[in-house]
Amino acid sequence: MNPSLPIEKDLFSPLQLGATQLKNRIVMAPLTRCRADDNNVPTDMNRVYYQQRATAGLIITEGTQISPQGAGYPNTPGIYNQQQVNAWRQITDSVHAQGGHIFLQLWHVGRVSYPGIQPNDEPSLAPSAIKADGAYVQPRALENSEISDIIDEYKHAAENALAAGFDGVEVHAANGYLIDQFLRDGSNKRTDLYGGSYANRSRFLLKVLQVVTAVWGSDRVGIRLSPINKFNSMSDSNPEALFSYVVEQLTPLKLAYLHMVEGQIHDENFAESSSTFKPSSLRDLYQGTYMANLGYSKESANHAIKTGTAELVSFGDLFISNPDLPERFLHNTALNTTDLETRYGGTEKGYIDYPLLG
Ligand SMILES: Cc1cc2nc3c(=O)[nH]c(=O)nc-3n(C[C@H](O)[C@H](O)[C@H](O)COP(=O)(O)O)c2cc1C
Repeated sequence: MNPSLPIEKDLFSPLQLGATQLKNRIVMAPLTRCRADDNNVPTDMNRVYYQQRATAGLIITEGTQISPQGAGYPNTPGIYNQQQVNAWRQITDSVHAQGGHIFLQLWHVGRVSYPGIQPNDEPSLAPSAIKADGAYVQPRALENSEISDIIDEYKHAAENALAAGFDGVEVHAANGYLIDQFLRDGSNKRTDLYGGSYANRSRFLLKVLQVVTAVWGSDRVGIRLSPINKFNSMSDSNPEALFSYVVEQLTPLKLAYLHMVEGQIHDENFAESSSTFKPSSLRDLYQGTYMANLGYSKESANHAIKTGTAELVSFGDLFISNPDLPERFLHNTALNTTDLETRYGGTEKGYIDYPLLG
């Protein structure tokens, strides 16, 4: 080996991700599977599911609500009470026992909540009283004082995640949920300090990051954005300018990573190329570790890492049906395909029974 040649990086190169040393750059993307119990407490089946996937360099858990109001769907886990902390502890211990690392995704759905999910059937909470298309409840616009209550809930949830033994947390600011609803002007029509200018629309996100990094240290906190994702009826009049501003605010925080959903989720026909603004271009504005997501294969992910357009790549759908995805990538083995019927809710079928190699 010629020592003067630079070593080419790929998905299997280790990475120091903030305070966490990863064995590879293959990340399990956050995946809501709606299989916690009826009290939003993770189960032993959830523990098996995450343990099976511990060969990923990093697991990011499914969206996990910070409060009962933060839930939008049935049987999603929470991180606001002791029972949930205890159950998550079993999961983090199991992942660590396999040599894996796991971050919790902190989630508040805002307006995206189905009837029967909100406590006492109250309206869901949102920056503005604008309903998302579909069978969601009509939201109520948050009072200014209530916004600081939610920021306190993020802090409490971050403390609980620490007590539950996670390696870090990811703040979910993507895919049309509460923080994203504040960021984009299709869902934020506020005229107070939380609406209007980019600085005002980013205020909620930055306050959340302030309390969460105070609990964890910034090198154990990641953030997820999805600038052009229309999922959950999202829109913005100028996503390029808005998210350029947001990313510029993030650099000085020295977070563990910026996780970018580079296109539109749940839409196979959508390609980043169909938008004039490419979220991947924000990578050039951001000085820090960039995690790419959406539609990556082993080949395109390796290309991104080799060419330096990303430091690591997360995989969603592939991790649903391939618990041992890193091993399959390593050996170029055939991949299982996902059963769409069993993605959300149900039993062990389509959850922990996907075949492992060998
Ligand atoms: C079943 C399912 C559940 C998902 N749940 C979440 C979630 O809880 N949080 C989140 O940020 N993204 C969620 N996503 C989006 C994925 O993290 C990822 O962005 C998407 O699947 C695109 O990546 P892929 O092309 O590798 O699958 C979900 C996607 C799917 C298919």
